[in-house]
Amino acid sequence: MHPNGHNEFSGERYQQQYYHKFPNRDSDPGPMGAKMTIATVILAAGLGKRMKSKRAKVLHPIAGRPMILYSVEAARRLPSDKILVVVAHQAEAVKQVLEGQPTQIIHQGRPLGTGHAVLQTQAALANFPGPVLILNADVPLIKVETIRSMLKTHQDHDNELTLLTGRFSDPKGYGRVIRNPAGDLLSIVEEADATPAQRALREINTGFYVANAPFLFSALKELTSDNSQHEYYLTDIVQIAVRQGLKLGAVEVPDSEEVMGINTREDLARIERAVRGRIAERHLSEGVTLLDPASTWIDADVTIGRDTLIYPNVYLEGSSRIGEDCVIHSHTRINNCRLETAVTVLDSCVLNESVLEEGATVGPFAHLRPGTFLHKGAKIGNFVEVKKTEMGEKSKANHLTYLGDATIGKEVNIGAGTIICNYDGVHKHKTIIEDHVFVGSDTQLVAPVRIGRGAVIGAGSTITQDVPPDSLAVGRAKQEIKKNWAKRKKKAKGIIKEEMVKPRKE
Ligand code: UD1
Ligand code: CA
Repeated sequence: MHPNGHNEFSGERYQQQYYHKFPNRDSDPGPMGAKMTIATVILAAGLGKRMKSKRAKVLHPIAGRPMILYSVEAARRLPSDKILVVVAHQAEAVKQVLEGQPTQIIHQGRPLGTGHAVLQTQAALANFPGPVLILNADVPLIKVETIRSMLKTHQDHDNELTLLTGRFSDPKGYGRVIRNPAGDLLSIVEEADATPAQRALREINTGFYVANAPFLFSALKELTSDNSQHEYYLTDIVQIAVRQGLKLGAVEVPDSEEVMGINTREDLARIERAVRGRIAERHLSEGVTLLDPASTWIDADVTIGRDTLIYPNVYLEGSSRIGEDCVIHSHTRINNCRLETAVTVLDSCVLNESVLEEGATVGPFAHLRPGTFLHKGAKIGNFVEVKKTEMGEKSKANHLTYLGDATIGKEVNIGAGTIICNYDGVHKHKTIIEDHVFVGSDTQLVAPVRIGRGAVIGAGSTITQDVPPDSLAVGRAKQEIKKNWAKRKKKAKGIIKEEMVKPRKE
């Protein structure tokens, strides 16, 4: 038997695992191969005023994973020599989320605009000869293949600057791409500075750029904040490149969904939906049955084994790991749990930071709190709450029970309505129930207490002392019978008449 400390999902260690768990794809060469190394700059310093939040925008989670980590993951899958993340608002919190990632933090101080943000990376990129890839951290749906094709265009055309553009039927809020009649790039105009004719343009700036470092930093120094938002716009490097007669180009993203930015809560909800759609598609393609993908919420870091069947309205959160051949019924939330093979979770359960070994069954209406460990074939039934408790193989608690701070052996039967009284008002105490114990219904086990192997507890007992192995413990008042007592009482109160008091013939 494992001590309760066994639970790998408890505490801070788990939190770290959860936030920093990415497969290491650094070695993924992609079509660019080893030929080109880039530096990637991720802009993440803005507060995101339009979110109306206390929390920095890039920390808002999407499918359970902080927004910033989507850009970091993309950067890691590219041949990034360095990944620089520009931070300002809630820099400490952003740093914490990035702990363990191969990123370098660059402080922007006061965020004075996207151009000002990139300029802060100059010292870190001094002498960097190659192209600099710039990503906006608030555009998380971008696919790595799309960035690769932008990098390829940049390299194939020997550009100084390459943009990624998109086309939206409703381009509101985005910078518009301005071209001459021949189609050559001229500039990017922010919506706030655009004329009505410019606002009518549908080609938008996605916020993804590749620029050669020497050009980039010389152009950034020319920026002014002479615009309606009084910010140093990174986008102004386009007209600077044009003015200098440098080679520049643009790649249009094939699917505009990829470049939807998050500025408002509405955008966040839209992106969340799109990310969830992608996650569901991935699991379906890997052999998981989702009876209703739209109502099944699966966080980005969850893994699910083949032939697992998931009913509608199920929430799988954090870095839960679900094994093969599991069945998870409706209205269930599973947060940071590990379910091994063929685990069944019936309707309306809440499972948190728990481990369920092969063939375990839970629910309906069960609550597994952190530190629950169900060994093979263990069963937790209706209206049972379990906390920091280990249930041995094939042990059962089927009805109306509370189990807290307990270690329960193999093939133990916990009767209906059993309560472990683990808390004395000040401290929590442990209960140990050894293998093959039978706990009769409506029993209270007052901790600390140990029930020896093979013992039987009579129903309705209050157990306050250890029970030796193989014994019977009954801790309740003895039953007394007083014949005809009830009838006499009722007669004395005048509730029934004399003739009715006569003993009834059986
Ligand atoms: C920006 C572009 C716009 C483009 C859009 C695409 C500029 C001037 N505009 O507009 O053309 O269509 O993205 O989504 O670049 N940030 C910093 N430091 C700052 C300001 C912003 O790091 O001082 C970061 C933000 O955290 C965010 C990103 O840069 O991740 C973009 O900033 P945001 O204010 O959202 O720019 P948009 O108005 O969306
Ligand atoms: Ca934005």
